[in-house]
Amino acid sequence: MRIMRADRGLLITLEGIDGAGKTTIAGMLKMRFPDFVFTREPTEGPVGKMARRTEEPLEQLFLFMADHANHLRSCILPSISSGKVVVSDRYIDSRAAYQGALLREMIPIDWIYDLHRPWSLMPDMTLLFRIDPSVALERCTKRGATSLFEMETLLREVSRNFDIMASREPERFVVIDAERGIPEVAEHAASEILKLLRRRDSQGGDLL
Ligand code: TMP
Repeated sequence: MRIMRADRGLLITLEGIDGAGKTTIAGMLKMRFPDFVFTREPTEGPVGKMARRTEEPLEQLFLFMADHANHLRSCILPSISSGKVVVSDRYIDSRAAYQGALLREMIPIDWIYDLHRPWSLMPDMTLLFRIDPSVALERCTKRGATSLFEMETLLREVSRNFDIMASREPERFVVIDAERGIPEVAEHAASEILKLLRRRDSQGGDLL
């Protein structure tokens, strides 16, 4: 499905390793921008739940991707087509960073993007919440959350993948220092969103 950019809303994604604080920031942005559609991947749908439970990386890749196809069709595309601003807590880049790390011997990161490209939609802006993996892990342990992904060596590799992706696409990625206090991080994120909205408005609704 193709969407004319001039008629559409915006897609903003929040990315980062576990413990970077994205979800807390998403909650704060929701209060600041009540008209936006806030959503997340993996979704709470059946495939999203299955993806979250699966431990085999290749199966994870395809389950997270199937969840993404459903998310795109049922939420993201209809919202964007009706001119809404959509903020997704995780998106394609999470697959590239996490499954890219877990499947590094088998599947290059570029292939993960290539698998999405023909049918998915790239974000207008990606806020990358950057934090040292040891600080992130400390946060995860404090909140009692542990998952397969919360191992320092893996998180370091995932973090490195995010950094590589951000350096390859500096126009899309905005790197946010997530080691600061939550209010400061939220303020930085909000100011980047406002900048994007102003840029869209000054270009007559078209970011191209
Ligand atoms: P969450 O903690 O943001 O809810 O995400 C759940 C976990 O799933 C998190 O450790 C990152 C991982 N994940 C992937 O490995 N690949 C993906 O495509 C997505 C969306 C999440």
